Amino acid sequence: MERTVTTDSANTEDRRRALRQAFGSFATGVTVVTARDGQGAAIGFTANSFTSVSLDPPLLLVCLAKSSSNLASFSSTPRFAVNILSDAQKEISNRFASKTADRFAETEWRDSAGGVPLIDGAVAWFDCITDNVIDAGDHVILLGRIADFSHSDARPLAYLRGHYLDLGLAEAAADSVSHHGGVRVGGLLDCMGQVLLRKTPDGWALPMGDVRAGFREARAALETSLAGQGIAAETGLLYSVFDAPSGNATWMIFHGEMEHAALEPDLRLFPVDDLPLQEIAVPQIRSILRRYQSEIRQARFGLYVDDARNSGQIHAIDQRATPWTKFITEQES
Ligand SMILES: Cc1cc2nc3c(=O)[nH]c(=O)nc-3n(C[C@H](O)[C@H](O)[C@H](O)COP(=O)(O)O)c2cc1C
Repeated sequence: MERTVTTDSANTEDRRRALRQAFGSFATGVTVVTARDGQGAAIGFTANSFTSVSLDPPLLLVCLAKSSSNLASFSSTPRFAVNILSDAQKEISNRFASKTADRFAETEWRDSAGGVPLIDGAVAWFDCITDNVIDAGDHVILLGRIADFSHSDARPLAYLRGHYLDLGLAEAAADSVSHHGGVRVGGLLDCMGQVLLRKTPDGWALPMGDVRAGFREARAALETSLAGQGIAAETGLLYSVFDAPSGNATWMIFHGEMEHAALEPDLRLFPVDDLPLQEIAVPQIRSILRRYQSEIRQARFGLYVDDARNSGQIHAIDQRATPWTKFITEQES
């Protein structure tokens, strides 16, 4: 449902609530911003208003509410750090947003070279020299010049519409699917609005990789296998998981982007709205392609999961589910 609010006509409380909701529809990561107060005590607060600002010079910003008990300390600190939390650190996020007296007491942390607290296990941290504190309505903007930073490939915590998001959903879903015969990986590859298909004796199919033992290696193996077929692709989110129509492998289809290049004769790019759906042999792949067409139109992606217990649900990122049969016509099922 769409709701338009004109900022100068709406009742203030109503407008604040609506604006908070509208802002909340921007998915973010979660950070804890840390510093030392005038007495040298470690201080910090949870923030999702973090934004990268500049590479050269290296700048970032984070917004702090003027209502914060830490306003005076953060407005005058010469240094602060931004710690990007991992998906195992929800508790830390909640602790640093709560009124807990000493947020650091139950948190594992250490000092940066510049003497600012760093949260152990963060996905990334940026140790900053305060560049500017800018007055901005009911917040101040802390602009930091990055002195030191570090990052890892741990999975970040994500936040949308007032809830933490489970970016591990794809892996969890994949693990919940029976892996009895290994994993067959495939790519739903986009090349400037066109989808790559391969001609097989049974009809058109998605480009597939080798059978693998498990989920973790599957994506890397797919990219290597595609490269061997002359397809330079970068795969991203897991798009669909289902048990094979015949045989005993689990199929995993990753969404990805590919570079435009000369293709082997049995490969062809089709415009998203002009896919040869009637000539796709595997019904699940036909369903995936129909869903892709629909999502391209809605510019929205989900994750399809089919296992023994769960007869095919499409999990949007906010976990609402749509049955896969929605994307298959009656004659096709
Ligand atoms: C996910 C999440 C994101 C938040 N982002 C911000 C933010 O960007 N800026 C801010 O001032 N407060 C933010 N808050 C609220 C503060 O963390 C919280 O109000 C603050 O820590 C309260 O304590 P204080 O008054 O001692 O600062 C966020 C809270 C949560 C749970």
